Amino acid sequence: MVRGIGLKVLLVADGAGVLCHTAPLVTSLVRTGLSVRLSLTASAQILVGPYYGSMLSGHPVLSFEELDENGVSGYDAILVVPASDKTIKEMCESPAWNGVRCPVLVGPGLLPKDDNADAWDELDATISARGWKLIPAGIETCTMGALGELRVASAERCFEETMVAIGKNDLKGKRILITTGPTAEDADPVRFVTNRSTGRMGVALARMAAWRGAFVTLVHGPMSWPIPQINAIRPVPVRSANDMYKATMELVQDHQVAILCAAVADYTPVEYSDIKIKKGHDATFALLLKRTPDILDAVGHMPGKRPFLVGFAAESDHVHANAQAKLQAKNCDMLCANDVTKPGSGFAVGTNQVTVFLRGGEVRELPQMSKEDVAEKILDMVIERMSLI
Ligand code: PMT
Repeated sequence: MVRGIGLKVLLVADGAGVLCHTAPLVTSLVRTGLSVRLSLTASAQILVGPYYGSMLSGHPVLSFEELDENGVSGYDAILVVPASDKTIKEMCESPAWNGVRCPVLVGPGLLPKDDNADAWDELDATISARGWKLIPAGIETCTMGALGELRVASAERCFEETMVAIGKNDLKGKRILITTGPTAEDADPVRFVTNRSTGRMGVALARMAAWRGAFVTLVHGPMSWPIPQINAIRPVPVRSANDMYKATMELVQDHQVAILCAAVADYTPVEYSDIKIKKGHDATFALLLKRTPDILDAVGHMPGKRPFLVGFAAESDHVHANAQAKLQAKNCDMLCANDVTKPGSGFAVGTNQVTVFLRGGEVRELPQMSKEDVAEKILDMVIERMSLI
């Protein structure tokens, strides 16, 4: 996924955390097309020499003192992670760091003994007073073998926050609710009815929207695709169609856009058995199902002002006719249809081929692309169409 071509990032890495943190972070930044300069503090250089750093980034490693002497300019974003107290203090006192214009993201590394809410609050106050952004550690711990442990935001979180920081910001201030994943309709404590959705298409939409500055509420069923750790994505886990309906209807009102990508079960067992349903003697078994609430239809027909509404349609036949009918019946602004019988399209693959049906009759056929690229195209159309409303 190449998103960062032409953009420059400076990564300052400090202390023993470089051992477990820096290689995966530099690799993911470089892989996305960014040009990365690595600066190692003196303590980091004891543990990983400059040759290793140059090999990772493809550029000579800078020392922390060089930054102080030569200034810290010419970057699109600066990441300081893991950052010790000492380095944060030096940055705060240095004139070179005072004049920095680009986003500066600071991920402090705390020893487990120093890790408490007050310490993080204090760091947040110091860092935000300079207009920099704190990347707090969530549940993450960096394990350094005999050197102990460090509480620091994971390389993955730091990568995602960097992509948000350098993003084009054309969705800044927008709140987008996305549903994704399958739902699970329980029949008894052991069995449930579900489908093949992994949640990957909705995660791609959430991630690309967050990278472009939006705040995303991600209402999701039981996922088999990971949800990225980004401050701008708030995951709301649910299980059944009914749970997803309740969560969506409660939250959707204060969002400007709703993209309903979940593969919601159309039917759920009429009855839930508290005990495991026993095997009988008959050769067949029938599970009686009833209709679930239709979330897309409910949002489309919400009273008052509703968000700009994008639906999805998983089709296996008569894609155009079925999608047009859904667009109209559910009162959507856009409907993204994918033929789930085509190879490389639909459920549980990294790519998708989507045809977008727009209110007013226009139809745009997208080529088969990665789900992230499909997500970008859908968001482009959302921006274009919202400005017409
Ligand atoms: O998750 P992945 O593995 O990445 O796969 C992606 C996907 C194939 C699930 C995705 O691209 C997709 O097509 N999502 C919609 C799946 C679906 O349930 O389509 P549908 O045609 O059955 O439903 C039409 C629309 O109504 C959808 O927006 C759906 O979210 C919504 N719906 C359906 C039933 C229901 N009870 N409530 C709903 O809101």
